[in-house]
Amino acid sequence: MKPTPWKVLITARAAQAAGEQAQQLLRDAGCKIIFPAKLGPLMADELSAALFGMDAVLASLDGYSAAVLSSPAASQLKIIARWGVGYDSVDVAAATRNGIVVTYTPGLLNDAVADYAFALLLALARRVHEVHVTMQRGEWKNAWGDDIAGKTLGIIGLGRIGKAVARRAAGFNMRILAHTAHPDAAKKGVEFVSLEKLLAESDFVSLHAALTPATRGMIGEAQLRQMKRTAYLVNTGRGALLDEAALVRALNEKWIAGAALDVFTAEPLPADSALRSAPNLLLSPHQSSYARGTGERVSLSAAQAIVDLMQGKKPQNVLNPEVFGSAQFRAGAGLK
Ligand code: DGY
Repeated sequence: MKPTPWKVLITARAAQAAGEQAQQLLRDAGCKIIFPAKLGPLMADELSAALFGMDAVLASLDGYSAAVLSSPAASQLKIIARWGVGYDSVDVAAATRNGIVVTYTPGLLNDAVADYAFALLLALARRVHEVHVTMQRGEWKNAWGDDIAGKTLGIIGLGRIGKAVARRAAGFNMRILAHTAHPDAAKKGVEFVSLEKLLAESDFVSLHAALTPATRGMIGEAQLRQMKRTAYLVNTGRGALLDEAALVRALNEKWIAGAALDVFTAEPLPADSALRSAPNLLLSPHQSSYARGTGERVSLSAAQAIVDLMQGKKPQNVLNPEVFGSAQFRAGAGLK
């Protein structure tokens, strides 16, 4: 018997622009695709309005809180397929309680994000973004930057993406320090150290830890003050790893040499954010996964999870497999 076609909400901006194959996959399976008036990340009220009657969502970093997931708006929802690897915006336990499957796309973004973290590091150290602006103004003016080869890179969070950053740093002949939840003694060329030592000795610090209650705000005033005055901070992980107000003070008062941020506590970054005018700060709009081939593969993987569940198969990369056996499970019995 053919499954009843599902209504699929796509809030992930990238799955619209780099999701042609993914959308085709959903349509071929009979799904009806709905784009909200505004693409994600959606706040709770926007999300609730968009979720009514939806069976599945191909999800941006929208706020899937317990309140949203147990609201009438989400009563039809069977799967949240996260476009990406971070799932800190989803209350996975609440999804499980409501019988909703949560999937993500681990492994597919490692190189794209690591490339981008390195692009920010290189641009910061060599002031590429600054001389570009002076050239556009009609000037011809050099800017002294800093060397990269032989310098020390501190990686906070040595998961898949952190390791991809370490591989790049090795190619630049850098000394690599790491502070991570699961140190792996066998990782060649990486020295596992305390956070204090990493901050005190690194010329560049790159954040790649997952956002959890333990890592939220882990880089605040005290940690920024522990960094060298000549050091740079790069954040392509999550905005809330960092105390943004403390960073603004650090840059204004020159506790550190500079920073590059691709992620923010509030996204999109408010137009009047103090970060927009802080000195020696390179900003970008959560851009690290916007590499077209990667975007297409991630979109396809998230769409496949939706189609699989709709067709009675267990999707890959499920974050809450216990949901399948629960009485609340909504996607029907007898999964293959
Ligand atoms: C991720 O993979 O979580 C990226 O931040 C894109 O959403």
